[in-house]
Amino acid sequence: MLFDLDLIRKVYEALPLKVMAARNLVGRPLTLAEKILYSHTFTPATRVLERGKDYVDFAPDRVAMQDATAQMALLQFDTCGRSRVAVPSTVHCDHLIQAKVGAKEDLGVAIDINREVYDFLSSISNKYGIGFWKPGAGIIHQVVLENYAFPGGMMIGTDSHTPNAGGLGMLAIGVGGADAVDVMAGLAWELKMPKLIGVKLTGKMSGWTSAKDVILWVAGQLTVKGGTGAIVEYFGDGADSLSCTGKATICNMGAEIGATCSVFGYDEKMSAYLKATGREEVAAAADRVREHLRPDAEVYANPAKYYDQVLELDLSTLEPYVNGPFTPDLATPISQMAAAVAANGWPDAVEVALIGSCTNSSYEDISRSASIASQAKTKGLKVASEFTITPGSEVVRFTIEKDGYLKTFDEIGGIVMANACGPCIGQWARHIDDPSRKNTIVTSFNRNFAKRNDGLASTHAFVASPEIVTAYAIAGRLSFNPLTDKLKTESGQEVMLDEPKGFELPPRGFDVEDPGYQAPAENGEDVQVLVAGDSTRLQLLEPFPAWEGSDLKGLRLLIRVKGKCTTDHISMAGPWLKYRGHLDNISNNMLIGAINSYNLQTDSVKNGLTGEYGPVPATQRQYKAAGLGSVVVGDENYGEGSSREHAAMEPRHLGVRAILVKSFARIHETNLKKQGMLALTFANKEDYEKIQEDDTIDILGLTDFAPGKQLTMVFHHKDGSSDKIKVNHTYNRQQIEWFKAGSALNLIRKQFAN
Ligand code: F3S
Repeated sequence: MLFDLDLIRKVYEALPLKVMAARNLVGRPLTLAEKILYSHTFTPATRVLERGKDYVDFAPDRVAMQDATAQMALLQFDTCGRSRVAVPSTVHCDHLIQAKVGAKEDLGVAIDINREVYDFLSSISNKYGIGFWKPGAGIIHQVVLENYAFPGGMMIGTDSHTPNAGGLGMLAIGVGGADAVDVMAGLAWELKMPKLIGVKLTGKMSGWTSAKDVILWVAGQLTVKGGTGAIVEYFGDGADSLSCTGKATICNMGAEIGATCSVFGYDEKMSAYLKATGREEVAAAADRVREHLRPDAEVYANPAKYYDQVLELDLSTLEPYVNGPFTPDLATPISQMAAAVAANGWPDAVEVALIGSCTNSSYEDISRSASIASQAKTKGLKVASEFTITPGSEVVRFTIEKDGYLKTFDEIGGIVMANACGPCIGQWARHIDDPSRKNTIVTSFNRNFAKRNDGLASTHAFVASPEIVTAYAIAGRLSFNPLTDKLKTESGQEVMLDEPKGFELPPRGFDVEDPGYQAPAENGEDVQVLVAGDSTRLQLLEPFPAWEGSDLKGLRLLIRVKGKCTTDHISMAGPWLKYRGHLDNISNNMLIGAINSYNLQTDSVKNGLTGEYGPVPATQRQYKAAGLGSVVVGDENYGEGSSREHAAMEPRHLGVRAILVKSFARIHETNLKKQGMLALTFANKEDYEKIQEDDTIDILGLTDFAPGKQLTMVFHHKDGSSDKIKVNHTYNRQQIEWFKAGSALNLIRKQFAN
């Protein structure tokens, strides 16, 4: 048994009382999201948590990490001094496998070139009690849905499509690695109390329409920003009519509208899925607290009163959608697609049709798609496009092979890729004659930004349901509407494709020989974490030094950044991705994208020791070698973008002592605090102008560092004059202890050492 039944039972035992307490506190009926949020606060809520305003400490039940983000998360966890993770956690090897020839060969190549990363993740998982899913086992979200998600639970995952588990009634939220470390170490996890968007689904889908079309429609309504800071909760008879995996598809793509996560209430479909995936006990336990795993009845009756925004959709009127190109919210109903193709000049020829990914590779998706694929043969149709299938997990792959669907795809020329992210994350060696030629691909994935799938700006990527993508593979034209259009057979006859038919769950059950799971050691004390001393991709972390106990004097100005400075400017992605597990090597990208306000160039700053201009990381390394700390000065909303902790760890590693800005993006500010940095803001924003390129800097008041109390900074100019300014901070008592200890992890380590 992979899931933690004791934990789930404990959650359910406490649920009725916690929900009642929350209802009393709030003084009204509750939505499902509120029930889960209030029942997962780190300490019981004592006042109403204001949506969109209050920052709340939560205690998630689980953590999941994919291989690209798990590296730094686990390197940090390795230094925290805990002998085991505090909550059930898993690692999934899915992002580093490139789709090139086919599943078997591609998996072999990936295991070879990523061996040291896999060995590290496997050994560190083994040591600290983390479940390890080997390369080939499947994509994180599908594996979580099949094994771990449970109604009414809360989890975090180091991947933005973690909300997929909302299909099984779980609040599942994508986070950065540092957040995962906190939860694995047993600390609270902070989130701004989300707003709530209710989506009422009525009616029943039929024919070519599928669950994917619900979220494609919602994306069109709300746009890519419409869900920001909100949980999307689906309810109504229509919601209950959707399969569990269909619900997961909808929740998965909530990430495309910026939602914190999405969720459905517990119902018969979820119960059936739990039973089909070997979790009868979870279904039975959930049945006993069923009323607490759905919104209160009054919420259905008057949703506008309980949600910040409500959308309503009658599923019986919904037609298939095709969204794109370049953005997932450009939603076109299939009946208007031919006109849209002509009006926008989108390339009509579908060159590659790709089904699968974490979004759409359920048994239902595959069986319905196979029912379309099989018609190519029976009706004498030629398949016009390249066609690939990426199963979401080995369980799905094995079962669909056993049930004959892979053979069906094979017979029309479909190529089965490894159970991994592959083309969805750009891990795709696409074969194309002219990379600059405008071309169209259609996928059943979730994202379709320029270059996402194949790195080509010329590719127009559209997303649709796997059934529609399969129909496109056969027709080869984006303007084709399978609901109304005929196709010509090889003998010249005109035929139509029949509606897709499939099974929500495999009639003969799921099956698998080797799911690809490695259980951790019972006692990992003697397990060695495998990192080669000369590795360029992995490096064990040394704890950052504690604060020296005095004011900081004689610091150098490293850079005064002008304008936008996102986490990408601070720690670029692209070719640097391969160093995500090696802090020293990835630090060579520190701030190389930021603009120096004195010369308006990137990666060129004046070295205070030599007077020469040079790259930012090299200059900072010289300061570090000379035993000098430094300060980075920034503009507004410094550190916006991703929650990548490297953007805070790199300056910390290279010896920057403080980041002083006009304003911070909240997550980056917290990340800096966690890493023991001083994250400071100008009390008077105009003081930014007083700072000169050759300044040396003192930070005063640290011996009395206290919440709400300003610090003082002195900028000593080259001409002998100086400017003394006040700076603000938002450190609470706990965070000041992080600073003093050198990092939040150092503090945890101290606690576990005692
Ligand atoms: Fe992987 Fe794409 Fe899903 S990258 S986790 S298959 S969104």
